[in-house]
Amino acid sequence: MTRPALVHLIAAVRPNFMKIAPLWHALKAAGDFRPLIVHTGQHYDAAMSDDIFADLGLPAPDHHLGIGSGTHAEQTGRVMIAYEKLAMEERPDWLIVAGDVNSTAATSMAAGKLRIPIVHLEAGLRSRDRDMPEELNRLVTDVLADVLWTPSPDADANLRAEGIPEERITRVGNIMMDSYELVRPAIMADGYPAELGLVAGGYGVVTLHRPSNVDVPEQLDRLVEALVAVQAHLPLVFPVHPRTRQRLGDAGAARLAAAGIRLVGPAAYVRFMSLVAGAAAVITDSGGIQEETTYLGIPCLTLRENTERPITITEGTAQLVNAGNLLERLLSALAQPRQDRKRPDLWDGRAAERCVEDLRRRTASR
Ligand code: UD1
Repeated sequence: MTRPALVHLIAAVRPNFMKIAPLWHALKAAGDFRPLIVHTGQHYDAAMSDDIFADLGLPAPDHHLGIGSGTHAEQTGRVMIAYEKLAMEERPDWLIVAGDVNSTAATSMAAGKLRIPIVHLEAGLRSRDRDMPEELNRLVTDVLADVLWTPSPDADANLRAEGIPEERITRVGNIMMDSYELVRPAIMADGYPAELGLVAGGYGVVTLHRPSNVDVPEQLDRLVEALVAVQAHLPLVFPVHPRTRQRLGDAGAARLAAAGIRLVGPAAYVRFMSLVAGAAAVITDSGGIQEETTYLGIPCLTLRENTERPITITEGTAQLVNAGNLLERLLSALAQPRQDRKRPDLWDGRAAERCVEDLRRRTASR
């Protein structure tokens, strides 16, 4: 019998965990793969990491690189140095990276030069905004990847337009929905909204962490004022990302709290999704939440100038907004009757199965 193919799955930041969890479970169950989780340590707080691993039934990481926070180059460099050492020792048959964070590009660069085959999960998304560090990470990773697993047809088209050979691209669908389906009963049973005194369908959820929104003080002030104005119409709950908490400072947090906005810490996956599932609307600059609200049919006010996930607008429930038009757009979204809409193709909770099938075929032909 041949040995199972060794697969390194890179976990780095909160939104990666919802992408690698279904894949880890599916690879483990398949028998012909040996998946190991490599946590780079880009996110390290219990609330940003361990609690989410527990929610998604993931074991403790097999390897922890412990690189922590830093500037972009510091973080990227530390991941490259640490991962190169591990990759040379273990020589995995495949490296699988997810999303668009510094650890995604850094491990790809280290593996690429060792000629370890790279799979990019969530390939092909483009905002065409190079002010976003994530856009640079996407471009670097997709150029280096041997296999590009895409969530949607727009991603396939972006890759083709950049000259990526067709045979490297496989559309597997949106794997975040697999995570949702994996723990849906726990999400439905969770009492977090009620603990906060919130009534299903009677509140909004806010998340903010993009540098373009929270690192520029004037922009953050405008957003604080816009949220205070919304709160007068719809009670808001705001799980605050550590980056945003630092930038708000005590004065900004006090301003939001004084208006009645419920500020809470980062929530683990099940608790957070129970908040989203019961919300009347979501106000966010997150990538993943644009997709989760489309899946759940909940209006999403995306506080950004562009999105790498246009399908959440063309086939979903999202629209791009800014501090100036947020309130008006939110009120008009709330006034619309909820429509039963078809979910985007292959957002069906079965993406991980398609990934395993594709990886098996590609392993056999190597
Ligand atoms: C990173 C990703 C972003 C992703 C986001 C999800 C990059 C370039 N950015 O941004 O694409 O959407 O994760 O959250 O890779 N901190 C803590 N505890 C933690 C993690 C971070 O306190 O567990 C603090 C750090 O000290 C830092 C700040 O939060 O000052 C920001 O963390 P960082 O990892 O640099 O980037 P994110 O903003 O989380």
